[in-house]
Order: sequence, then structure tokens, then C-alpha cells
Amino acid sequence: MMDLLGACHTLLFPVQMLYHVIMASLTSLLPSRRKDLAKEVVLITGGGRGIGRHLAKEFAKQGAKKVILWGRTEKSLKETAEEITLSGAECHYFVCDVANREEVYKQAKVVREKVGDVSILVNNAAVVHGKSLMDSDDDALLKSQHINTMGQFWTTKAFLPRMLELQHGHVVCINSILSKSPIPGAIDYCTSKASSLAFMESLTLGLLDCPGVGCTTVLPFHTNTEMFQGMRVRFPQLFPPLKPEVVAQRTVDAVRADKAFLYLPWTMHALVILKSFMPQAALEEIHKFSGCYTCMNTFKGRT
Ligand SMILES: NC(=O)c1ccc[n+]([C@@H]2O[C@H](COP(=O)([O-])OP(=O)(O)OC[C@H]3O[C@@H](n4cnc5c(N)ncnc54)[C@H](OP(=O)(O)O)[C@@H]3O)[C@@H](O)[C@H]2O)c1
Repeated sequence: MMDLLGACHTLLFPVQMLYHVIMASLTSLLPSRRKDLAKEVVLITGGGRGIGRHLAKEFAKQGAKKVILWGRTEKSLKETAEEITLSGAECHYFVCDVANREEVYKQAKVVREKVGDVSILVNNAAVVHGKSLMDSDDDALLKSQHINTMGQFWTTKAFLPRMLELQHGHVVCINSILSKSPIPGAIDYCTSKASSLAFMESLTLGLLDCPGVGCTTVLPFHTNTEMFQGMRVRFPQLFPPLKPEVVAQRTVDAVRADKAFLYLPWTMHALVILKSFMPQAALEEIHKFSGCYTCMNTFKGRT
């Protein structure tokens, strides 16, 4: 009997694969259902400025019940929270360094007591040191790892248990295409983002058996914020930086559509496919020709 069941499963497997590929193609072409945000309490790390600030505004605009901002700099958190409150949405902010585990757990408790259960956690905060390995001091390398990788372990550990209990929640990660296609001169960032991507891939699969709780990982190309200021590629007209408001809008839409992975722009899929079969020498030529090889030489972004 078991053998017969096993044989049926094996025969069904290619049919299931075909079904999922067709369904994914159709849903990417046709308008699909978007979940309502009216009951959602959204917490965004690094919500005071950059993409995080636009994410906060977009979640508020698309009807989230409450928006909570975390970051290190009170001034920018306060300004963003005031702007969102003026637009008519409820917004709170708390100073919290996501690299500090104790502070994350402490502030998570404060959030639960003062605002309520978080149902959408957006891990957005990150830094880039922007130097090669030998030019980086150990503290700077550790800082990137703590903020870009470990920060999301602590925040997810702090908020996921309640989402699982309520069978309602979403964990979002603003990752980067550099996690799939690293560049020289940002070794701290590429390494920590690759680690953060593995975290999200593992979490996404780990939550398959958890009804009502999902994940979205966003992999944007260079975006016009302070983070990579000064970085120069060879053909900026051909590959212009993304606007942070577009990244925010596409991210909120992906969360509402329950999409697991989002490449921005979609042409980044081609880069990943090329990387999977091209010889290393050809990939090196692409890096040199496009200016990616030296793009961080002019970097003067902030951390
Ligand atoms: N800009 C790009 O080209 C690009 C491309 C792809 C992906 N991304 C990703 O998009 C996300 C947002 O980047 P962005 O461009 O908006 O950068 P950004 O303008 O430099 O903003 C970074 C945000 O992270 C916060 N932050 C940094 N360290 C923190 C810490 N220890 N604890 C809490 N908050 C912290 C900052 O606030 P405080 O300084 O106040 O703490 C700030 O709000 C990042 O995950 C980045 O990797 C960016």
C-alpha cells in the first residue's frame, strides 16, 4: 500500500512542478488578490531615513493600522513619524540599535506594551563600510555583520513567536542584489547580505508549515539614497539607480501579494542566470566593462 502511495507521489511530482511554474507565470501576468493592511501593525528597522522612511510612508498610505519606526538617530525618526502622523496614520518611533541584542529584546517588549503585537516586521536597517578586506579594521567588519546579519536574527526572534501563536504575520527583508553578485570594495556588505539572504531562504522554507505567517525578501539594485553615495558605474544612463519610493511601493505590493522573493528591477534575474553558467573569466570581463570592478573607488557613503 505504502509503495503504491510512494509511486503515485513520484509520478505526481513533475505534474506539480509544471502546475507551480504555470501558476507563477499566470499570477505574474494577471492582477492577483492583495491582502488588506487595515489590521496590520508594521515595524520597520532603519525607518527614519532612506528606503526605510519611504517604506513607512508607503505602508501608512496603503492603510496599515499602525507604523513603528526603529533606528539609532532620534531626529530622523521623529521627523518621519511626524510626517506620517500628519498624513492621518498612527506612527510611533523608538531608538533601537539592531546590532545590540539586549536593546532589541528590551525595545521589543516596550513596543508590545505601548503599541501592541507587531504583525509585519521589516528588516531594513543596514550599513556599508565600503572598503576592501585589507583596508578594513576588524571593528568595522564586525559592525556590518552585527547590523546587517545578526540584527535580523534578534528582531525576528523577538517578534516571530507571537506571529506564530496568532497564526498571523509577515517577515520582510530588504536585502540587495549584491548578495547574489558581489563587488570588490564592499566585502563587509556583500558577505553580510549573502548571509542575510541565506537566513531568509531558510526562514521562508522553515515557515512552510506555519499557516498565516509568510516572508518576503527584496533584492534591489543600486538605489538613490545616502548609502552608496559616490559609487560610480560606467553606464549610469543605461543602469540608473532605483528611486527609493519605487523600491518601497514594490515592496509593500509584494508583501500584500505574499510574494516570497522580489528582484528589483526584474532584469536582475538575468544577472543571476548569467552567473550560473558563464565562465569566471567572462564574468570578470563583464565586471570590468560595466565598471562594477572599480565602482567603489569613488565611494563616500555614510555608515
Ligand atoms: N541604497 C542602495 O543602493 C541599496 C541597494 C540595495 C539594497 N539596499 C538595502 O536597503 C536597505 C536600506 O538602505 P538605504 O539605502 O535606505 O540606506 P540608508 O539611507 O543608509 O539608511 C539606512 C537605515 O538603516 C538605519 N540603521 C543603520 N544602522 C542601524 C542600527 N544599528 N540600528 C538601527 N538602524 C540602523 C539607519 O538609521 P540610523 O542611522 O538612524 O540608525 C537608516 O535609517 C538596506 O538594507 C540596504 O542594504 C540599499
